[in-house]
Amino acid sequence: MAAQTGAALLLTSLLITLATIASSNTEGDILYAQRQAWNDPNGVLQSWDPTLVDPCFWFHVCCNGDKSVTRVDLGNAGISGPLIPELGQLKNLRYLELYENKLSGPIPATLGNLRRLVSLDLYSNHLTGIIPASLGNIGTLCFLRVHRNRLAGGIPASLGRLTKLLRLELQENMLTGTVPLEVLSLVFVGDLTKLNVSKNSLTGTIRSSKQRVATIIQDTLK
Ligand SMILES: *[C@@H]1O[C@H](CO)[C@@H](O)[C@H](O)[C@H]1NC(C)=O
Repeated sequence: MAAQTGAALLLTSLLITLATIASSNTEGDILYAQRQAWNDPNGVLQSWDPTLVDPCFWFHVCCNGDKSVTRVDLGNAGISGPLIPELGQLKNLRYLELYENKLSGPIPATLGNLRRLVSLDLYSNHLTGIIPASLGNIGTLCFLRVHRNRLAGGIPASLGRLTKLLRLELQENMLTGTVPLEVLSLVFVGDLTKLNVSKNSLTGTIRSSKQRVATIIQDTLK
């Protein structure tokens, strides 16, 4: 009986230890799952090794003092494939720099959960689908650059809530509809210094001069 209790206690403490290891490794698990979802012909992700204690030792990843991921820097890295929705669980992520690759598929709506994100740079990829309205929940966002993709649908009015936004670059996509007034108003009530929507399929107020919108807004701020 005593031996059984002892064994049960040992098992319990072992399970707790395992659970602790697993939870402290969650961000590494997410990034490793992202690595597996990508093609990496240049081998830039070779250091993304799940047997290391945490992802803070991996190349192109930065962490804060609590070993939580704050940056992923993989601009112009030759990678292709989708963005996995679990990226939205990297709760301390501030910079997601994935520009100039061959990323495809949609922008996961879960990225709207990244409530500390300052910069979302996904420009010059092959991304399709819509701009998720959830991105309007990232109150910390200063740079939202998703230009030169194949994004369709409308510009979400929710982006008008991003009052810290400095740059909103949406040019060279397949966006339709009009630029929501909520977004345009950021030029006046927010800090937006660059809004480029040229080379889309937008209608309404900018039907006749796609290039001029960016220019007019730029001129207002100079
Ligand atoms: C806006 O985007 C277009 C298309 O990429 C580009 O030609 C133009 O220079 C950009 N405007 C500004 C002010 O950056």
